[in-house]
Amino acid sequence: MLSKNNLETPIIIGHRGASGYAPENTLSAFEKARNLDIKWVEFDVVLTSDFIPVLLHDTTIDRTTNGLGSILQYSFDQLQVFDAGSWFAPAFKGERIPSLATVLTFLRKNNLFAVIEIKALKNNEKQVATKTMEIIEKYWPDYQDKVIVSSFSYAVLKVVRQLLKEVKIGLGVEKWQPNILDQAQQINAYSVHINQQILKQKYIHFAQAKGFKVYAYTVNEKNRARQLLNWQIDGMFSDYPDKILPLCK
Ligand code: G3P
Ligand code: MG
Repeated sequence: MLSKNNLETPIIIGHRGASGYAPENTLSAFEKARNLDIKWVEFDVVLTSDFIPVLLHDTTIDRTTNGLGSILQYSFDQLQVFDAGSWFAPAFKGERIPSLATVLTFLRKNNLFAVIEIKALKNNEKQVATKTMEIIEKYWPDYQDKVIVSSFSYAVLKVVRQLLKEVKIGLGVEKWQPNILDQAQQINAYSVHINQQILKQKYIHFAQAKGFKVYAYTVNEKNRARQLLNWQIDGMFSDYPDKILPLCK
């Protein structure tokens, strides 16, 4: 059931899809999220050697495919020979690294919402941000309130903000630093996405007092989720979003 506002808090976001149940950052992981009635999914975007935004968390394809090497050494077509599912379970054999365009088409058709995390490699911040935003505008023209573009790279987010004045931006925070909220303000961020391992109640209060939503990653333990909900967290990323969602009700 769609809440009256997509961003009504707390939101529970399938981390890399429903990646506890299906190979991360693949269409199967998003189908699983949809089947679990999870509305929000997060995924990671990188550029191929021919500048196609695709979904991958790591800098190499070693861990999540049957291939080896840096993502930057492969064109999109070359990547399509690799199996991105078998490493997770035999049932997912034949899964491919999807393009961002394919994934956005699927999400839009299925009325899902997305946190799109841009990962820059080898100083390609401007390229990856520009190509990603081009694809979002082309394949999801009504993205407003359905998409949050995030990154741990401040350089990436500065480009995103220059390109689009309205898009919701989420600043990734792995370690808390005193200037984090100043940075978030400078790019007119919507949210800060904080590593739950370092997250303290006061950080939530600081950020919310300045008007930012606070989302915690990656929350798979129910007790931690309950504590964060007590601290008025606005959202959580989880590999098992179906286990966390009932705690919000
Ligand atoms: O976007 C939130 C979360 O995905 C950040 O961590 O390393 O899983 O991309 P990571
Ligand atoms: Mg991510």
